[in-house]
Amino acid sequence: MSTYDLIVIGAGPGGYVCAIRAAQLGLKVACVEGRETLGGTCLNVGCIPSKALLHASHMLHESHENFAKMGLMNAHVDVDWSQMQSYKAETVGTNTKGIEFLFKKNKIDWIKGWAEIEGAGKVKVGDTTYETRNIVIATGSEPSALKGVEVDNAGGVVVDSTGALVLPNIPKSMVVIGAGVIGLELGSVYARLGAEVTVVEFLDFITPGMDGEVQKQFQKILTKQGLKFVLGAAVSGVTTDNGTAKVTYKLRKDDSEHVIDADCVLVATGRRPYVAGLGLDKLGVEMTERGFVKVNDHWQTSVKGIYAIGDAVPGPMLAHKAEDEGMAVAEVVAGKHGHVNYNVIPGVIYTTPEVASVGLTEEAAKDSGRKIKVGKFPFMGNARAKALFQADGFVKMIVDAETDRVLGCHIIGPNAGEMIHEVCVAMEFGAAAEDIALTCHAHPTCSEAVREAALACGSGAIHV
Ligand code: FAD
Ligand code: NAI
Repeated sequence: MSTYDLIVIGAGPGGYVCAIRAAQLGLKVACVEGRETLGGTCLNVGCIPSKALLHASHMLHESHENFAKMGLMNAHVDVDWSQMQSYKAETVGTNTKGIEFLFKKNKIDWIKGWAEIEGAGKVKVGDTTYETRNIVIATGSEPSALKGVEVDNAGGVVVDSTGALVLPNIPKSMVVIGAGVIGLELGSVYARLGAEVTVVEFLDFITPGMDGEVQKQFQKILTKQGLKFVLGAAVSGVTTDNGTAKVTYKLRKDDSEHVIDADCVLVATGRRPYVAGLGLDKLGVEMTERGFVKVNDHWQTSVKGIYAIGDAVPGPMLAHKAEDEGMAVAEVVAGKHGHVNYNVIPGVIYTTPEVASVGLTEEAAKDSGRKIKVGKFPFMGNARAKALFQADGFVKMIVDAETDRVLGCHIIGPNAGEMIHEVCVAMEFGAAAEDIALTCHAHPTCSEAVREAALACGSGAIHV
């Protein structure tokens, strides 16, 4: 059997991108994937199916809330849940097939099955051991378990994100445990589809790690959309009986115990790295205390010739972070210089409005001891956002008070997930807020709000 230059384990956004880049650089590459389809968590049970449901449910919400306001009368839209599921499955299918096409185009061998690393340079799949000069672990993550709560995705009552994407029907009521990204995206989907959604969160605020002002505004907007929040609440258990569930939680402020009934419970309390079956203990691959694969600045593990990327290593669990690491490690393996700028990784929540951020929050910038300036611009002063009925949010730019250099940006508003990239590019180029303020922005666009926030860091925004 011929020897590979690189075997990538896992075909999620980290692994498949790594395999493609390595093949483009002239390496002989194979990628092992145990799932039936390529694309990993992201394409199969993560980013893509959740965005399909967010889009479909947003359309429904528009028809209920905004069509009549625009003179589009008598829109009566019924939900055909099974058709919505088909649309979602088709969206996933075309994308996973697309990766298969890219593998063929780049002459990457897809080794089907679950991999075990027998030693440096040896990957076993089924009864076959493949020889390779380098191995990249890109095995991703799985939902973390919550004590006292048993997830049963097939049952459809107590589910994690994977189960929540394929519920047998739209529940009348749903309790979401965890006000993080998954809880709020999927909670929004079911709220728009008519479920009464209550989000129970351990902390006293939603979306930990985000800018404080954004957290507050986001919670306000979601509350207006019908989501209920119970904050500062530790869930102690979930019981089920005859297709319904009872969620018990204790309020941290006074230790009082409460119970909520629901048709469905979504457990969304974080994800943990997935490395089961790889045999890393035997190989002596060092792990972090939290179970991630330990890597150096070049994504090399403690065992020579074995690298790791994506959700399996520390850092934000995001598809684009995994992809960037995939490209960079391919360059390293090919003897070039791969690089990822961890200071400029955007984060987006795909609710309506979207929430997007990059760089330092106001709190983190202050904590770092810098003198900062904050420029804020409300979408209320943006014509396009008002026409879209999405003027509740704002753009907030954080800059260094001495150099005017952009340190971070936080947007809650229409298409925030697209708009944030202008700031990412600016940050990559070490731009000042003035550079953005002096750049002509087309009118009428939501992006004008980014420019206005940059102007607000200097002599002032115009439309306030
Ligand atoms: P994964 O995508 O998890 O892929 C790992 C692959 O490795 C899997 O296919 C697995 O089957 C395979 N594998 C594991 N072990 C083995 C083995 N031993 N042998 C062979 N194959 C193996 N991120 C975003 O940036 N944007 C979003 O909008 C977004 N939405 C999300 C929504 C949901 C509901 C979820 C759950 C996640 C979402 N994420 C999102 C996170 C994103 O999916 C992950 O960050 C990303 O998939 C990580 O990529 P990865 O390549 O590291 O691993
Ligand atoms: P998360 O880490 O974003 O949020 C989990 C939330 O659950 C936190 O607010 C936490 O305080 C809370 N929590 C933990 N234990 C709890 C308990 N016992 N009771 C009540 N609340 C509790 O994790 P989530 O939402 O599961 O997402 C996992 C990962 O997937 C994230 O790291 C995220 O980056 C990624 N993802 C990204 C998306 C995007 O980029 N749009 C979409 C979905 C997921």
